Amino acid sequence: MTEKAYTWMTRSLSTLQKAHWYRAVTPLEGLAGAEMVRDGKTVINFASNDYLGLSGDSRLMDAAIAAVQEYGTGSTGSRLLTGHRLLHRQLENAIAKLKKTEDAIVFSSGYLANLGTIAAIVGTRDLILADQYNHSSLKNGAILSGARIIDYKHSDIADLEDKLTQNRSLYRRCLIVTDSVFSMDGDLCPLPDILDLGDRFDCMVLVDEAHATGVLGQNGAGCVEHFQQQGRPILQMGTLSKALGSLGGYIAASAPIIDFIRNRAPSWIYTTGLSPADTGAALAAIEIVQNEPQRREKLWQNVTWLQAQLQGYNLLPSDSPILCLSLDTPENAIAIAQKLSDKGIFAPAIRPPTVPTSRIRFTVMATHSREHLEALVNACHSSFVLGH
Ligand SMILES: Cc1ncc(COP(=O)(O)O)c(C=O)c1O
Repeated sequence: MTEKAYTWMTRSLSTLQKAHWYRAVTPLEGLAGAEMVRDGKTVINFASNDYLGLSGDSRLMDAAIAAVQEYGTGSTGSRLLTGHRLLHRQLENAIAKLKKTEDAIVFSSGYLANLGTIAAIVGTRDLILADQYNHSSLKNGAILSGARIIDYKHSDIADLEDKLTQNRSLYRRCLIVTDSVFSMDGDLCPLPDILDLGDRFDCMVLVDEAHATGVLGQNGAGCVEHFQQQGRPILQMGTLSKALGSLGGYIAASAPIIDFIRNRAPSWIYTTGLSPADTGAALAAIEIVQNEPQRREKLWQNVTWLQAQLQGYNLLPSDSPILCLSLDTPENAIAIAQKLSDKGIFAPAIRPPTVPTSRIRFTVMATHSREHLEALVNACHSSFVLGH
């Protein structure tokens, strides 16, 4: 092998740079929270998925430390071999209780939960119907499964029905997959209608609650609770890494479904179990989600206030703490993100290929104060030309 074999990467990177698609990382300093230090400057953080502000909560940190002291830093092997601890089971029981399902299974990340579950439950003789805006982990899980994949138009029930009518009978099993809260838009999927179609066409339904867990529903159980669909036959996927302030992913469903995943999902079987620290922190977070509804109430007050203040901007429709201001070009998105950053607001420009059109994405937290939100509104007023 010679170095020449790799020169295409440099060319590819320069193409990304020219298209304003190039990405790089900037470290944030300090405890995770509504204010952090970036490039040596304190910024108000509107870029985090830590919706309830739990990642810097001392109770989660204490639980993580206690778990490390009891079990060590690593779980040392696959859950099926040396990697299973009582703590994992306690977490799975707590998730199942929150979600009101028979059982749950915890993966080392949400991405792995989607990859492994989809690959386990459908194969080459099967069909996947997927919302066109689904998260990368759902799309790649679908590809990995080898099933025939047909995208339906974003949240378009008529299109989904049409595609089921035309294709369902040609395949053995069918899986409908959708984000519940769309991560780069903030809108909700039409879950009850999707489930009705699932019933009618004999389909399994996997719903990704990554951005809904802890945020939506009276008890923070997610979009399924929000739409009062608990008890229907669904695979509810979620992550421990957003509102739950830890790391890891899960599937909550009926006992036979979870038992099947435990036996067949490669990204659960052939990987190391979730670390004790992450497991302990997530368990503490679920308790807080259930016992402190005031956090969720504060989050929604913040969302409602900010949404009202940003009327007049090109705000994408949202039913979640994800608020996106639409922009015409990636260059503009980068320029506006920079202007906001100059004013102490950290909110990322989201560009193709992650999304079809460029935008600035704000994520609201329960721990944002009114002053934080006002600072964002003022920064927008001086950075945007209204309506653009
Ligand atoms: C909708 C959605 N699904 C899945 C994931 C993956 O979750 P995790 O970060 O736990 O791997 C994410 C997070 O990036 C997400 O936004």
